[in-house]
Amino acid sequence: MLASARGARARKIRFDSLPGTNEAPATTAATANTPAERGGLSPRIAEYLKTATLPSPCLVVDVDLVARNYDDLATALPEAQVFYAVKANPADQILSRLAGRGSSFDTASIGEIDMCLRLGVDPARISFGNTIKKQRDIAAAHARGVSLFAFDSEEELRKLADAAPGARVFCRILVDSEGAEWPLSRKFGCERPMAEDLLVQARDLGLVPWGVSFHVGSQQTRHDQFDVAIGQAGEVFRNVAAHDIDLQMINVGGGFPSRYHSDVPKISDYAGAIRNAIRRHFPGRTLDIIVEPGRYIVGDAGVIQAEVVLVSHKGGNDPRRWVYLDIGKFHGLIETMDEAIRYRILTSHDGSEAAPVVLAGPTCDSADILYEKADYRLPTALKAGDRVLILSTGAYTTTYSSIAFNGLPPLASVCI
Ligand SMILES: Cc1ncc(COP(=O)(O)O)c(C=O)c1O
Repeated sequence: MLASARGARARKIRFDSLPGTNEAPATTAATANTPAERGGLSPRIAEYLKTATLPSPCLVVDVDLVARNYDDLATALPEAQVFYAVKANPADQILSRLAGRGSSFDTASIGEIDMCLRLGVDPARISFGNTIKKQRDIAAAHARGVSLFAFDSEEELRKLADAAPGARVFCRILVDSEGAEWPLSRKFGCERPMAEDLLVQARDLGLVPWGVSFHVGSQQTRHDQFDVAIGQAGEVFRNVAAHDIDLQMINVGGGFPSRYHSDVPKISDYAGAIRNAIRRHFPGRTLDIIVEPGRYIVGDAGVIQAEVVLVSHKGGNDPRRWVYLDIGKFHGLIETMDEAIRYRILTSHDGSEAAPVVLAGPTCDSADILYEKADYRLPTALKAGDRVLILSTGAYTTTYSSIAFNGLPPLASVCI
């Protein structure tokens, strides 16, 4: 089913020459060394694209892969409860499949809460994890049966006490996101001593101080960062225990990576790091452990099919070609900001001679350049009208797409 194909041109796809999961062409730097197991082109998507009629650009998500990623994480860390971060991709088919496999849901807004409820998710399996909420949205969530809320400030705590009396609350602490390609530092969380004061205050305000959360930064390539953060959470637990508060839950957030430009550690490495850290910092304790993966669950399960609009030169000293696609920063690829997330790109000319390019989107904003500094190379045969596949684009793409910038429709998506 097409999620948002409004106004987009439908195209019949023939991509017979696409390499399989394991066959990224060596001539294309951005696609080299694709491991068979993660981040390659899913055989189901490759098969689907041979005959599908889709607008361009369009995200195709293999929901079986979403389920597999969920299972891999749940198996690697069975002691934790998975709260899928809905913001990564809230497509109905994804939420339904995950709900069916036992996932709970981390939500950022009343809109995301309603998406889950509409699909029959029990509100007891929903966490309102945004630390920045309108009081009326807290009240609405509470009225719908949601009873688990995040906060990181006294002001938010007071809103929670007023609008969700008796709710379980957890405090997000500031942690280092070094090693993350999409850091979430500074904006969220508070310093550890403040978190301790606020958790005591939560009890005094009639809330249930339930636990501590953090996020080590998205696309976190260093699993040792979890040890540092879990160590800080352990200190909070011990220090509030002196005030007769027995916290129950540690929420270790997301950060588990997709496979973009280079290999990343395995999910079992992250699970092992989290398990060891909890043993070390919470000796002999039984805890509710929550993980909130977004990118890991859906990123590698999605592929955007897009089209080359123009290949040109600028003259002067820079010999690079400019390749303009029909998708850019404003229609789903915002995480190319500062060239932070570097997607791999396949073309039907892969295997032939390739040369450096600047890659840009189609809009009239000069910020709409995807990669200028990173060393992207694409086949010299590439021309307007050719289709390209942008791999591992299942997370943080559709939801970031503008609705009509330059009159272009939002990124279409289909789940198979
Ligand atoms: C509170 C919270 N939890 C989980 C996530 C998901 O993180 P990731 O996609 O890195 O797994 C995010 C991402 O922004 C978040 O803000």
